[in-house]
Amino acid sequence: MKPEVLITHTLLPEAMAYLKKRVNSEIGTSERSLRRRDLLRKIRGKEGLLSLLTDAIDREVIDAAGELKIIANCAVGTDNIDVGYAREKGILVTNTPGVLTETTADLTWALIFAVARMIPEADRFTRAGEFKGWALDLCLGREITGKRLGIIGMGRIGQAVARRARAFHMEIVYFDPLRLNPNDEKNLRASFLALDDLLSSSDIVTIHASLTPQTRHLISKEKFRLMKKEAILINAARGPIIDEKALVEALQKKKIWGAGLDVYEREPAIEKDLFKLNNVVLLPHIGSASYETRLKMALMAAKNLVQGLKGEKPDNLV
Ligand code: DGY
Repeated sequence: MKPEVLITHTLLPEAMAYLKKRVNSEIGTSERSLRRRDLLRKIRGKEGLLSLLTDAIDREVIDAAGELKIIANCAVGTDNIDVGYAREKGILVTNTPGVLTETTADLTWALIFAVARMIPEADRFTRAGEFKGWALDLCLGREITGKRLGIIGMGRIGQAVARRARAFHMEIVYFDPLRLNPNDEKNLRASFLALDDLLSSSDIVTIHASLTPQTRHLISKEKFRLMKKEAILINAARGPIIDEKALVEALQKKKIWGAGLDVYEREPAIEKDLFKLNNVVLLPHIGSASYETRLKMALMAAKNLVQGLKGEKPDNLV
């Protein structure tokens, strides 16, 4: 008999076909995201759960399941899951590392350029029929080539962002609680700096850390005070790493030059005042959103799920 699983949201067709052959699945929803009460009802009696980062898999959900063996998250981040509690109950948790690294690094660079060269603003200006001819002082952005890039979180994605920075002859500095070995630092041409030193000296600061109790509000009101007035802040990791209210204030008072956000503190809610600001570019959490990558993520999560249900060690155990 095939094991019973809950897939909280319909996956791409290839991943659904893979799962159909191997498990009996109930689909949570094909709409935006599964409502809490439906999640609590549908999880009952399931052995496996394939979740998205928008599903809060906490104690209540885990307890409601009863006999859960594995939670396969279709994301590299697992901050939506109470991993500690799952572990206590002997439930495996898996994620999808690696496959989204390059795609997320690409998007980070798209955000850097969008902010530095004011691309969305210039597009709005042109569409509004405001372009009356070349002007020396029109849409004056900030240079990227040769500047100092500060990377917070030098894991897979941080390193992929650093590799791209070399093409722009940037000076790369990074902060991470786990310092890279000297060889990796040399290959990436990246130097380690304490967080405050990185913040006070970087022209572009980009966040690639996981969300943990230690990184929540890592970028606070005090940290904005350290940053350069010309600095650009990018977040394509997790929203709560930045105190969003403090960011609004920093942008309003021009304590920094601009920001590019793919993630938000209370996603999908966004601080209303951000919408009023021209010095911020806002994206709807699309860091890994290419067809190829999302398919790899879905297939990886599906494979992890099936491995766990068979009693094998899943490839991507957290
Ligand atoms: C992840 O996998 O954690 C990303 O945020 C999805 O883009």
